[in-house]
Amino acid sequence: MRTLTLSRPDDWHLHLRDGPALAAVIGDTARRFARAIVMPNLDPPITTVAQALAYRARIIEALGKCGVSTAFEPLMTLYLTDHTRPAEIEAACASGVVHALKLYPAGATTHAERGVTDIAHCFDVLAVMAERGLPLLVHGEVTDAEVDVFDREAVFLDRVLAPLLTRFPHLRVVLEHVTTEQGVDFVRAAGPGVAATLTAHHLLLNRNALFQGGIRPHHYCLPVLKRERHRRALLEAATSGNPKFFLGTDSAPHARHAKEAACGCAGCYTAHAGIELYAEAFDAVGQLDRLEAFASHFGADFYRLPRNAESIRLVERATEVPPQFPYLTDDPLVPLRAGGTVAWTLEA
Ligand code: NCD
Ligand code: ZN
Repeated sequence: MRTLTLSRPDDWHLHLRDGPALAAVIGDTARRFARAIVMPNLDPPITTVAQALAYRARIIEALGKCGVSTAFEPLMTLYLTDHTRPAEIEAACASGVVHALKLYPAGATTHAERGVTDIAHCFDVLAVMAERGLPLLVHGEVTDAEVDVFDREAVFLDRVLAPLLTRFPHLRVVLEHVTTEQGVDFVRAAGPGVAATLTAHHLLLNRNALFQGGIRPHHYCLPVLKRERHRRALLEAATSGNPKFFLGTDSAPHARHAKEAACGCAGCYTAHAGIELYAEAFDAVGQLDRLEAFASHFGADFYRLPRNAESIRLVERATEVPPQFPYLTDDPLVPLRAGGTVAWTLEA
């Protein structure tokens, strides 16, 4: 039986939600990861440092009750809006707890209604971020109804991100959950301040997974799964040893009723196997020895944070994934691989 020892990894893109949902999911992440970049797309969103501090306190409180004894640090982010002021960026830099701002084009995804309607509204704020080195985390999809849903990332790169980087060459940017060959090529060709996170599900699944024998709402996320050609390009980037590409699960829990619906929410819950699924993906291409740098080093380096000193051990032994986890009252959470298995297990 093979085993794999890694420095404890970090999750550089995570949705923790709030209230009972937060309490239900925090343990899965804290068991595996030392830190996580926590997405601010609550309803209402986290737009100020004061809100981020209060949200962080709720996360710490939930951590204390989740039964996990290893240390876990939530790294907070602010949700950029048309109305964010430069003073908020200064406050974020001074706070020591806010590590980035998140750009959601208005309407692009879950709770993105309050997102940015035109990036030009944010130029004053972005100028301060570029000067201070505070990263902008980008949901890189246009939202125009006439753009095909599978092309939204590629069109965003041409129409929004490339001109933005021309205007602000020193802006530090993470193209979150990159899903296309074009996205990977863009990040590779850009300067050292541009990086990307990759999810396990985009490394493991192509868009056929949405329609395996019928419609599969638990494989629906945004950006949507792409063709096999793109999945291969992502896997190549993740396992290439290029420090611009690092782990971000985008674990995004939604209650079963919200997923299995006439108009189901986007998001896959993967935190229950948040590192194990990546081990599967890397192993499938014979690159397990590249996992540690991708999962535990490159993200910390990009965020200018110390690498973790502790380690974790994975064993190549199948773990059964329950059909569902408790989540909200009378509304459970269906994880990725529900009722199936994951090939690697985290040792306690
Ligand atoms: C995320 C969510 O549910 O908050 N959903 C998703 O499909 N990834 C939002 C996001 O990251 O797009
Ligand atoms: Zn996300």
